[in-house]
Amino acid sequence: MRIDILTLFPEMFDSPLKYSILKRAQEAGVVKIALSNIRDFAADAYKKVDDKPYGGGPGMVMMCQPMFDCVEHVRRLEAEPGRLIMLTPQGRKFDQSLAKELSLEKRLILIAGRYEGFDERIREGLGAEQVSIGDYVLSGGELGAMVVVDAVVRLLEGALGDETSSDDETFSRGLIEYPQYTRPEEFRGMKVPEMLLSGHHARIAKWRLEQSIERTKMWRPDLWEEYNKKLKDQK
Ligand code: ADE
Repeated sequence: MRIDILTLFPEMFDSPLKYSILKRAQEAGVVKIALSNIRDFAADAYKKVDDKPYGGGPGMVMMCQPMFDCVEHVRRLEAEPGRLIMLTPQGRKFDQSLAKELSLEKRLILIAGRYEGFDERIREGLGAEQVSIGDYVLSGGELGAMVVVDAVVRLLEGALGDETSSDDETFSRGLIEYPQYTRPEEFRGMKVPEMLLSGHHARIAKWRLEQSIERTKMWRPDLWEEYNKKLKDQK
């Protein structure tokens, strides 16, 4: 997969892309991540990328021209047009199923904006989808783009390494994860559940599923409701 990130602050991405799974996935050639600075496409001597909103109001709006030029430049770098996504609080809510959907694409182009928003013609004219990482307002789309990149890349084949799989995780089955333990068997009087020491693989699997169900009911009743709806629909 190739991911292009269009931003006014490419340096913000240095550190998140340099560690752990994202680092390994890039080194292994599972993903190529390319950053473009929108300001490099500003046409005037001041490198202006934003301007006052027509009709008045607070703040500044991202201008069309630098954004169109930047997207068009990046699109020309590869034959694959890719899925163009703007990070904005108005967008479709990002979740595990959207992460999975995006992980099937050959290319993503993510636009991280700043200021009060984008000139509406950027979305319309470039045919961009809008994605939000949650119902809160960030100071820019960069953190949103990082969240999307992280959640998508770890789903790519080869990103997690052989021994780990993302199939079993929270959300992939619509339930949250069962509790995990590692050594020692007892810590400050708190013991690892007997069942996990029993070696009965089938019983452990059943216990874990029960735990997942209990926790989902207790901590994420919204997911539990959805899970039951899906079960009913399947029947
Ligand atoms: N930019 C500002 N707020 C955002 C959000 N919640 N999600 C994605 N991009 C954003």
